[in-house]
Amino acid sequence: MTVIVCFVFHFIPQTNNITHIAAGSLPPGMKELYLLENPLLVIDDTAFDASATSLQVMYLSEARFTRIPDAFLHLKTLKLLTIYDTLILDWNEPALRAISPNLQTLVLENVGLKTWPGWMTYFTNLTELGFNGNSLSSIPDDAFDKLADGLLVLSLFNNRLTAVPKAVSSLKALRSLNLQGNNIRNVTWLPQSAKLLSLFLFNNSLRDAYELSNSLRNYGDSLTEIDLHGNQLTALPNVSFLAKIEGLDFSSNQMSQSNTGSVPPTINTIDLSHNSLTYIPLFLKTLRNIFEMLLSYNAITRITDADFSKTITGVDLRYNLISELKDNSFPADSIIATLQLNGNPIVAISSLALSTLPQLMELNLQATKLTRLPLALASLTGVRFVDFTNNPGLVCTCLEKGLGAWVATFPRGTILGDCGQTSIYDFFSLLSPLCPV
Ligand SMILES: *[C@@H]1O[C@H](CO)[C@@H](O)[C@H](O)[C@H]1NC(C)=O
Ligand SMILES: *[C@@H]1O[C@H](CO)[C@@H](O)[C@H](O)[C@H]1NC(C)=O
Ligand SMILES: *[C@@H]1O[C@H](CO)[C@@H](O)[C@H](O)[C@H]1NC(C)=O
Ligand SMILES: *[C@@H]1O[C@H](CO)[C@@H](O)[C@H](O)[C@H]1NC(C)=O
Ligand SMILES: *[C@@H]1O[C@H](CO)[C@@H](O)[C@H](O)[C@H]1NC(C)=O
Repeated sequence: MTVIVCFVFHFIPQTNNITHIAAGSLPPGMKELYLLENPLLVIDDTAFDASATSLQVMYLSEARFTRIPDAFLHLKTLKLLTIYDTLILDWNEPALRAISPNLQTLVLENVGLKTWPGWMTYFTNLTELGFNGNSLSSIPDDAFDKLADGLLVLSLFNNRLTAVPKAVSSLKALRSLNLQGNNIRNVTWLPQSAKLLSLFLFNNSLRDAYELSNSLRNYGDSLTEIDLHGNQLTALPNVSFLAKIEGLDFSSNQMSQSNTGSVPPTINTIDLSHNSLTYIPLFLKTLRNIFEMLLSYNAITRITDADFSKTITGVDLRYNLISELKDNSFPADSIIATLQLNGNPIVAISSLALSTLPQLMELNLQATKLTRLPLALASLTGVRFVDFTNNPGLVCTCLEKGLGAWVATFPRGTILGDCGQTSIYDFFSLLSPLCPV
């Protein structure tokens, strides 16, 4: 099928069903050509000729040709080429060489690159390179020598690298490096003379917090963004010198120690969920701009008033190993507004445990091991939403009758959960009034 594309000066409607671009079918003098999600099979050799000296930008995706078309041989001014989701088996070196002098951005994502292509030596003028979603496991040491002073953005995410490639260390001008989704364990060859602004290393296999700290030291004045979630760090690294970082994501690592490293005192978020921490890290208390404690899915067994800074308003301790809330579990005059304790094996909540939480609005106690409603609940006068669902051991008895007035302050649907066959709400509105006085 040959489809004549609808012409606008810059844009061609994407997501058509174009399989063939015939010679002479494109308008002359185009600057940009978008051929996304078209099952292109054939591009005639002279199809781009009318725009040979004007075309600067080309996007292709889901094409079905497997050889870079000879039509590229004639493109003299292309600056940006992006090909996504297209299995290329024959890279047509002469064609790539033809477009190489002016090309500044080259992104080849999910195109089946298995080894570093020899034709990359032609591309000496790139400022941005992305070879994402391929299966590259190594890069020659000299691969970036000619790009050392020019490349600003490098992205090699979702490949099979096991270390930051040595070639990367020569990139002096690099500002952004994305290596997420590899199996990287060794960061020795991060580009130490570059002033990196963003560094994505999440979903790799980093283990050694000490080595990581040392490799990041030179970015103290430059780095504004770093992401380290989904690695195998067993300890908190020392990243205290990263003065421009506002948030840190250490979730989904294997941290059991948190008293070794250090973080910038000014950060405003830190995610430590999905680790193996057995207590609330002490350093959290020193962070003045942190409002949320993100510690779900750890192995924390107990909490005390000394664990909380005065600034915390949100506590996420879901799925830890806390079995008891005591009179001193929360600090005096706390401003905690949401408390998520669901998924903890809580068996007991002492009578004054919740009395220091005057600002609490939301309490989640789903899936605990509670067998009775804690009388301590009556001290939560501002609370708007309480969730006791999925507490199969919970029964309501006349001993908790005293909570009736408290429950009565909730509109139906804002106190959730059942005791036995009856909802907590119905027990207090219908049954507990029948309890003996
Ligand atoms: C695209 O064309 C093919 C073959 O001509 C046809 O089977 C398919 O339904 C078309 N798809 C769309 C989205 O038009
Ligand atoms: C390389 O790119 C720059 C712009 O960054 C451009 O001015 C120059 O002409 C290009 N070099 C070549 C050889 O085309
Ligand atoms: C990381 O790689 C460097 C250089 O190849 C090597 O000297 C170092 O021992 C490696 N570190 C680890 C933890 O394997
Ligand atoms: C990291 O990996 C996890 C597990 O494979 C996946 O669920 C998550 O989406 C990944 N993160 C990103 C941002 O791709
Ligand atoms: C972390 O590194 C900083 C600066 O390099 C240093 O001053 C500090 O003592 C280190 N902290 C820890 C806990 O190792």
